[in-house]
Amino acid sequence: MHKLVEIKNVKKSYGKKMVLDEINLSIEQGEFVLISGKSGCGKSTLLNIIGLLDKFDKGEYIFNGVNVFKGFGVRERIRAYDIGFVFQSYCLLDNLSVKDNVLMPLFYNNTRINKECMNTMERYFEVFGLSKLRNTKVKYLSGGEKQRTAIVRAIVKNPALVVADEPTGNLDPINSKIIYKELGKLTELGKSVLVVTHNKDVFKNVCSKYKIEDGKIIDD
Ligand SMILES: Nc1ncnc2c1ncn2[C@@H]1O[C@H](COP(=O)(O)OP(=O)(O)OP(=O)(O)O)[C@@H](O)[C@H]1O
Ligand SMILES: [Mg+2]
Repeated sequence: MHKLVEIKNVKKSYGKKMVLDEINLSIEQGEFVLISGKSGCGKSTLLNIIGLLDKFDKGEYIFNGVNVFKGFGVRERIRAYDIGFVFQSYCLLDNLSVKDNVLMPLFYNNTRINKECMNTMERYFEVFGLSKLRNTKVKYLSGGEKQRTAIVRAIVKNPALVVADEPTGNLDPINSKIIYKELGKLTELGKSVLVVTHNKDVFKNVCSKYKIEDGKIIDD
């Protein structure tokens, strides 16, 4: 199996507060990894590091065989092309439509927005019940609709890794199952998926489960 993500002895503190203490984690290509743990234990902190949104104090991060801290623009390229991130607080642009939010990552990585892109987007809109809302500004959406928009935005660029922080936090069981099923389909296509969740029932068939406790990552 090919390792997509390798986090080695990663430490992260905020001031004197140690949040991640020598964390090691590998994610294989096509693997579905679930992380849980109490509120405040460091799940979002770890996801932000893996999503290359935040730095760490010590340790190493190898993405697809490349040390992310060596070389010019490496982290930016990986973020733009290879990682789709679903934020716990969505981070959508309120005054733009669902469609424009979803297409935004493709502008950032210079993808030509051709028919294939539009078809992919429309297919996901259909799957996630967003077709009728495609031209609605995000500020008029419900929490769950925003959450589904954030998920489509993360996966539309077809990234090697999808990182999702509580992707079902605002969703009913039916929509949560749809999210789980779609993320599962991505792993069948060889994409890796990393999800933080409190909703372990929805993701019960996922094989790789960890939790964070006292700054350490352990099998769950
Ligand atoms: N930018 C920051 N500055 C200072 N402390 C921070 C910062 N971000 C997070 N923390 C602290 O680090 C700890 C871990 O935060 P984190 O957001 O990773 O928790 P979490 O496991 O995602 O929690 P939740 O389940 O509530 O989302 C918390 O105690 C939090 O207060
Ligand atoms: Mg969090």
